Amino acid sequence: MSAAEVGVAVGVAGADAVELADVTVHYGDVLALDGVTLSLRPGRVCGLVGVNGSGKSTLFKAITGLVRPDRGAVRVRGGPPGAARRAGELAYVPQSEAVDWSFPVSVRDVVMTGRHGGLGFTRRPRRADHDAVDRALERVGLADLADRQVGRLSGGQRKRAFVARGIAQQARVLLLDEPFSGVDKRSEATIARLLRELAAEGAAVLVSTHDLRALPDLADEAVLLMRRVLVHGPPHEVLRPDNLVRAFGLDVTARDGEAG
Ligand SMILES: Nc1ncnc2c1ncn2[C@@H]1O[C@H](COP(=O)(O)OP(=O)(O)O)[C@@H](O)[C@H]1O
Ligand SMILES: [Mg+2]
Repeated sequence: MSAAEVGVAVGVAGADAVELADVTVHYGDVLALDGVTLSLRPGRVCGLVGVNGSGKSTLFKAITGLVRPDRGAVRVRGGPPGAARRAGELAYVPQSEAVDWSFPVSVRDVVMTGRHGGLGFTRRPRRADHDAVDRALERVGLADLADRQVGRLSGGQRKRAFVARGIAQQARVLLLDEPFSGVDKRSEATIARLLRELAAEGAAVLVSTHDLRALPDLADEAVLLMRRVLVHGPPHEVLRPDNLVRAFGLDVTARDGEAG
């Protein structure tokens, strides 16, 4: 890497890709997020953990602009979420895809939607688009299944198709809501490896997971959520027993406490 490239990399890494300031979200009477302040930086994988109902999916939706905070502000690459989404800078793999799986689209079609960006679906794909889609399919290990209808993929393969879309899109911010839930081992390993690679290429990655044991390998940093950010730090800090007790009510230290 040349000095100039190092300089650019450092400059980019210094800026926040996603910033939430005091973000509060209600669904009717339900308080889902309570004053969340959080920054995500390019080049890093951030793991998001918390019990069911702790607000993880709401946090993703707030970053994409799908839910609007009652209070506070969300900035993605310095602007509003909608602008980042329209510019194709933001890729989102939802928890349970809001997709009609009987719809007759191929894996390749799904990945190609990542190339349309703000240009609309009517634009004819160019050579560069086809090449980007082929490379993305290769990277997620779905090249052989490119022409299969998405409805005929396994859960893990569908997740990989969505990750391929984010890759083809060259998204700068990647949001993945429980991509490892209910997927096969190969898909899990492929996705985890790709997230590290994409972060190394400069993307900011936020990924929620219930697999606490895998967190140190998966992520550079982690957020423990319970409507609020309880901890944001290195994975080992988030995994400290006292913090897990606060977030999960797992009294993993009880036995030691009784002995002492
Ligand atoms: N569309 C909705 N309408 C009403 N309540 C919702 C809706 N979505 C989520 N909630 C509630 O908001 C809280 C946070 O949910 P969610 O963000 O899905 O948490 P997680 O992803 O951590 O399980 C929960 O109490 C949930 O029941
Ligand atoms: Mg969720």
